[in-house]
Amino acid sequence: MDFQKFNWIRTRDGSPTLWHNGEGAAFRSQKGAFTESLCAFVRPALEAAQGAHAPELRVVEFGLGPGTNWALWHLSALALSKLGSPLTSSYTAIEKDPESFELGYALWLESLPLLTSFVSAEWDSEISESEARDCLEDARTKLRIVSSLEQLVSCPVESTPANVWFHDPFGFDINPSAYQTEQLTKLKGLIAPTGRAYSYACNSPFQKALRASGFDVATPETGNMGLKRERLEFWPSLG
Ligand SMILES: C[S@@+](CC[C@H](N)C(=O)[O-])C[C@H]1O[C@@H](n2cnc3c(N)ncnc32)[C@H](O)[C@@H]1O
Repeated sequence: MDFQKFNWIRTRDGSPTLWHNGEGAAFRSQKGAFTESLCAFVRPALEAAQGAHAPELRVVEFGLGPGTNWALWHLSALALSKLGSPLTSSYTAIEKDPESFELGYALWLESLPLLTSFVSAEWDSEISESEARDCLEDARTKLRIVSSLEQLVSCPVESTPANVWFHDPFGFDINPSAYQTEQLTKLKGLIAPTGRAYSYACNSPFQKALRASGFDVATPETGNMGLKRERLEFWPSLG
């Protein structure tokens, strides 16, 4: 039987995500792709940035995939700017297989009604489809993609410490090294001392590996009944 590499699937909140046939895994939670992205990554990062009055952010995402976090990040920033809280950011992604992003980007431009109604409702700030299209097209021209953590580290511009780090490679069962000390210690200089990293994975071995790699860890509730109870934040420990 000949399987395609990827298929789009509908998740429980009605939003799409890609299914990776080779890995046998969904790129975002089947419990709700947009919901997970917003609750575990985009909302906490944007709210922390607002609280810190940091108008200019450097975002690095480990695992761009189809770009759910990327699209919701930019559209949420647009929604906030319409509420009078403008924010500018650069977005760099580490992605070994950008094919999923090309599929994602094409789908986001075809799914503007779904994206705009989701983002407008989440932030209580109306964004139009044409504003969303302009926003994503502009963000696409500015997005920087590197293929590995090693490539990021070796590039002086790209290794500038991030204010926001989205730790979103596939889960531990598929990608154990991304959750173990050897890789995590490499992140220490890549996240600013006041920066914050976000993950939907929050299992105990990951938390233990983060602490051993020089990070402090918190596991706030996702605050959404449809998702798993907790998400994870980590940041460089002082000293
Ligand atoms: C869970 S998906 C990312 C979902 C995405 N953040 C979104 O919001 O739609 C994981 C992605 O991480 C990428 N990835 C996993 N390990 C990687 C590595 N060591 N280097 C670069 N990319 C990696 C995979 O190719 C895959 O596209």
